[in-house]
Amino acid sequence: MAPANTLPAWSELQAHRDDVAKSFVLKEAFSSDADRFSRFSRTFKAAGSADILFDFSKNFLTNETLDLLVKLAEQAGVERKRDALFRGDKINFTENRAVFHPALRNVGGWDMKVDGVDVMSGPNGVNSVLDHMKDFSEKVRSGEWTGFTGKKLTNIVNVGIGGSDLGPVMVTEALKYYGAPDMTLHFVSNIDGTHMAEALKASDPETTLFLVASKTFTTAETTTNANTAKSWFLEKTGGKGDVAKHFVALSTNEAEVTKFGIDSANMFGFESWVGGRYSVWSAIGLSVALYVGYDNFYKFLSGAHAMDKHFRETPLKENIPVLGGLLSVWYSNFFQAQTHLVAPFDQYLHRFAAYLQQLSMESNGKGITSDGSTAKYTTGAILFGEPCTNAQHSFFQLVHQGTKLIPADFILAAKSHNPIHDNLHQKMLASNYFAQAEALMVGKTDEQLRAEGTPEDLIPHKRFLGNRPTTSILVGDVIGPAELGALIVYYEHLTFVEGAIWDINSFDQWGVELGKVLAKKILKELDEPGNGEGHDVSTGGLIGAFKQFAKI
Ligand code: F6P
Repeated sequence: MAPANTLPAWSELQAHRDDVAKSFVLKEAFSSDADRFSRFSRTFKAAGSADILFDFSKNFLTNETLDLLVKLAEQAGVERKRDALFRGDKINFTENRAVFHPALRNVGGWDMKVDGVDVMSGPNGVNSVLDHMKDFSEKVRSGEWTGFTGKKLTNIVNVGIGGSDLGPVMVTEALKYYGAPDMTLHFVSNIDGTHMAEALKASDPETTLFLVASKTFTTAETTTNANTAKSWFLEKTGGKGDVAKHFVALSTNEAEVTKFGIDSANMFGFESWVGGRYSVWSAIGLSVALYVGYDNFYKFLSGAHAMDKHFRETPLKENIPVLGGLLSVWYSNFFQAQTHLVAPFDQYLHRFAAYLQQLSMESNGKGITSDGSTAKYTTGAILFGEPCTNAQHSFFQLVHQGTKLIPADFILAAKSHNPIHDNLHQKMLASNYFAQAEALMVGKTDEQLRAEGTPEDLIPHKRFLGNRPTTSILVGDVIGPAELGALIVYYEHLTFVEGAIWDINSFDQWGVELGKVLAKKILKELDEPGNGEGHDVSTGGLIGAFKQFAKI
């Protein structure tokens, strides 16, 4: 593909951007156009899920902007690339792999093949793994599968990092309302021994089930943490504990799983075409199935599949993730926005932004295009966020009055799982959700401040310029498994569209390798004589000081 910035629509957007920057004022766009809300909103509708309203109208959008952005998507081959994704083509071209996570949630019976082989059927196919997950999770939840002393397993420790952690953590938190009341979950990811130590402190070996979650089963943090857990288990049980009853593996690497000491019968597999950051839909989601039950896990997959279907079949202009991705490109490349804020007005979604950080920044934190040349335009935005209303009382100052443009997504469920105090909390939450987007758009003028009697010298400080864009996402009921699945996939495909336009490979992650290699080398040096010689002076100095302080 020609570099994105050489596409004709890119130059047209550049020229259009200058007009928008000069004369487009969001609040005026609403006062001069009664239909703006309906014209720039889209509703996601799917059987088994509540409607989800995506209001894009508080963005720097005119009819012309939308037409030009869609033109850019066409010229960048977004539809062709999307079709290649769903066809199982090897679009992860630096690793020669298909990117086929939609198959993991293919509850609609699509024909899905990689290299001509149906990935849904067969002994290791998606459907068999799902059956295995169903069977196992039901046995553990019912108490049929017990620990070595016959006690029910009610303490789950998931050992994994990156995609083998963030998805399961985020989803189990988001669906806590549906969680088994007698089950406690721990997620150990960090190599910092504190993480494992604290989880083990709270665990009883007789009732603990360890899920060793690692696509490769070679990730240093996970193998080290898993070995520590196994030693703890054997030590605590005086060697009597049965590893086979207390350890299962979620992985693609049967050889390493067996080497670790987990029976391959207790391994839940998946394939190399599942990227780590897209793996919560795979066996990596076993903690979710255990906690919320398989039926809810299946609903989660169904909501995800419904968003896949929407993305796959809907024309660009009506396509919700496409619009989200195009807006992101619009702000990143034409307004020099560096960030993307995602703020759920939902405490259950308190790890949502952390999850999206890996999805977005590991996917699109790349500066090399498909032909190996350096991108001449900015790519992946810095995604950040926290739940509201908390975030309003910390970093929202900068969003309202800082010097940076921070496009923001706000997410709210119309209904709360916990409508306590006569639903007052939910109404207050909702009023903040509406107020923040409104405030960011309308701002506050000097005239308004004067009319309120603000002293002249305070007016600049109290002024809100407004005209700051937001996308409001409103779920038509509670956020249940299906709605959560759809929301995640909205962001997955939004990220896909960004990468397609930027002509980068959104599916590898070479950028995480160098640090891993250096850490391995330095780990050896910590046990050898020397004080960091052979490194630059700063790194060497720090290694020397560490050895001295830690008395290593
Ligand atoms: O280092 C990055 C990464 O490869 C992620 O992409 C992945 O989610 C994580 O490490 C964990 O990998 P694994 O599941 O193979 O242990």
